[in-house]
Amino acid sequence: MGAPAAAAAGAAMLSANEAASYASGRQVAPSNRLRVGLIGCGGMGRGDLATFFLNPEVDCPIVCDVDDAMLAQGVALVKQQRGNTPATVKDFRRVIDRKDVDVVLVATPDHWHALPTVYACQAGKDVYCEKPLAKTIAEGRAMVEAARRHNRVVQMGTQWRSGIHFGAAVEAVRSGRIGKVRQVRCWAFHDWLGDVGHPKDGMPPAGVDYDMWLGPAPKHVFNPNRFHFNFRWFWDYAGGLMTDWGVHLLNIAMWAMGTDPPKHVSSIGGKFALDDNSETPDTQTAIYEFPTYTLTWEHRVGSGLGMNGRTWGIWFTGSDGALIVDDAGWEIIPEPKKKRWEAAKFPGSVDARPAHVRNFLDCVKSRQKPVEDVEFGHFMSGVAHLGNVAYRTGRTITWDAAKERAVGDPAANALITCQYRRPWRLPYLKGA
Ligand SMILES: NC(=O)c1ccc[n+]([C@@H]2O[C@H](COP(=O)([O-])OP(=O)(O)OC[C@H]3O[C@@H](n4cnc5c(N)ncnc54)[C@H](O)[C@@H]3O)[C@@H](O)[C@H]2O)c1
Repeated sequence: MGAPAAAAAGAAMLSANEAASYASGRQVAPSNRLRVGLIGCGGMGRGDLATFFLNPEVDCPIVCDVDDAMLAQGVALVKQQRGNTPATVKDFRRVIDRKDVDVVLVATPDHWHALPTVYACQAGKDVYCEKPLAKTIAEGRAMVEAARRHNRVVQMGTQWRSGIHFGAAVEAVRSGRIGKVRQVRCWAFHDWLGDVGHPKDGMPPAGVDYDMWLGPAPKHVFNPNRFHFNFRWFWDYAGGLMTDWGVHLLNIAMWAMGTDPPKHVSSIGGKFALDDNSETPDTQTAIYEFPTYTLTWEHRVGSGLGMNGRTWGIWFTGSDGALIVDDAGWEIIPEPKKKRWEAAKFPGSVDARPAHVRNFLDCVKSRQKPVEDVEFGHFMSGVAHLGNVAYRTGRTITWDAAKERAVGDPAANALITCQYRRPWRLPYLKGA
């Protein structure tokens, strides 16, 4: 039954007032609702759920977090936006068990993206999973496998993929506007990020199931920095700015340049600015050799001077000129000696997240692939992960994309696959 037909059938069961209300678009007939289960009620989980709520057909019967304080914030959001008090659980498997959940929103730290996504696919739920797709390349491959085997719609939460001006810039690159592109530069220089200090190890706060927060990650004594938000700067849970921001910017670069994988990747950097207990580099450069172009990624914490007045951005250099894009807009600059066209600037567009979520919801209904389908999400998250693999091994990685292995480099391959702390096991993990 198509969506309008389903709505009409549902409306037949309603009172005249309710039917009039649905018809006016103020409410959505029950048969047309999408019931979202939120896993991870932190900053992004609540932001994503609020975006889902912009769509009248979305309900949320259950929220999950391992921290009571975060759960309370998730509950408050649902109450404020929809008026109901959702069920609360600390074990995400109880969300996936529920028959009244159609869609699972995974907004946990990166080390906890793969398992909920795979289990949700196995249970016949569709998934909106935050970026990067997973903590490692091998987990991402297992997620693609789960989505395909169980015929699920899985969208990664890289919202700029739905940004109108990003799309226009990508289209300009792809149409040959700046000629043949042979160099791409991505950079993110963040003066708003800084030292997180040296807090002492200790006990997790009351109301936190810390063992469940760690999940498949190695056992580690609780430290306030290895927890909400700052987990990003620890290798056990994430990949630092290389994956946190890299995924957003490399996503636009790969969208424009296509899915031919890199052949070689190297990376340098270090902790040159921060004096704290974080692990990931505050300064990093990764260099990629793709078959027809080179790409560089650069990040810096604690200072924000960027290229062409932009603290972050993506810069494509072609034979006829350059195209530069960030959230403020995009511009094209002709190659001075050719000048086949005039320089031009185009404004940025509004927040891309509503369109990204809307695309996902539409695909849940139509069963089409979403714009940031899990397979592309896996490919481009992998590009970001390879920067870290090269950095952590200190070697140039020769990438065998067909096998998703580094050639002749066991240490690199150990970072590409993943070891889960028992009893957690990831279904569909190659070689497991
Ligand atoms: N798309 C974007 O622009 C964007 C922006 C920010 C964050 N993110 C992504 O969103 C994810 C979350 O980031 P954040 O900044 O919201 O982090 P956060 O620490 O604020 O929130 C994560 C939440 O997940 C909870 N959690 C941990 N393990 C859990 C488990 N097993 N079950 C249920 N809940 C669990 C934590 O207690 C916490 O409340 C990350 O993967 C991040 O990369 C995306």
